[in-house]
Amino acid sequence: MLGARHTGQAHRLSTTSTARSQRTKSGSSHRWLRRQRDDVYAQQARTDGYRTRSAYKLVALNEKHRFLRPGGRCIDCGSNPGGWSQVAAELVLSGGTDKAQPDAMHAREGLVVAVDLLPMPPLAGVHFVQGDFRSDDVQRDVVRLLDGLPADVVLSDMAPSLSGIRMADQARSMELCETALYFAQQYLKEGGTFVCKIFMDGGDPSFQQQLRSLFRKVHIEKPMASRKDSAESYLVCLDKQ
Ligand SMILES: C[S@@+](CC[C@H](N)C(=O)[O-])C[C@H]1O[C@@H](n2cnc3c(N)ncnc32)[C@H](O)[C@@H]1O
Repeated sequence: MLGARHTGQAHRLSTTSTARSQRTKSGSSHRWLRRQRDDVYAQQARTDGYRTRSAYKLVALNEKHRFLRPGGRCIDCGSNPGGWSQVAAELVLSGGTDKAQPDAMHAREGLVVAVDLLPMPPLAGVHFVQGDFRSDDVQRDVVRLLDGLPADVVLSDMAPSLSGIRMADQARSMELCETALYFAQQYLKEGGTFVCKIFMDGGDPSFQQQLRSLFRKVHIEKPMASRKDSAESYLVCLDKQ
């Protein structure tokens, strides 16, 4: 069901989304507006108060694999404008109870650290670091927020701005995946989850091979909210060794 259990949450936007208001009235933006208006996930995002329809991709991945848990510590790479961070915050920050431990009446604290090249409008409880995640300085700021403890989940929905040159775009996308994975290798706890967006069928085979050597389970997912005409899919890597 589309995010029904996420309704009634604190994060609400006006019915006119930021991205929408930023678009100019060119022909392509009219097409984009029409597609958004007619899209069931975009409509649902407005109802549920999510900043992006992409939020439902993470909802679906998590409903299948259950990696976002109350008290969890989550890094969201490529977070702007904040749809995934909203979902992560709802599921890991205090307020919920852990179904695996029903006696734990009070949820543990939880942590969400969001990172993006672009500024992100604030979200309650979410720490935001602005900058290029490939930079050591930016990663250092993220690590500082982890405060000496490892992360439970590293998410990467990072995507380069597309040049239209397929090979170049794929190479830049792979670089972002590899950067996120290298971070996860260092700061994700044993048993933790790594999720990253890839383009083309399953991404670079050697990247997948590397993931399979680092995680006990690796799944390739195409959530319903991911547009059929998009080459994107997600690698969900469970149980870091
Ligand atoms: C598809 S959007 C993410 C949408 C987000 N998951 C949401 O639901 O709101 C991809 C984001 O990746 C960011 N990005 C691309 N390259 C990056 C980099 N090197 N470091 C940090 N963020 C990056 C872009 O600025 C963009 O905001």
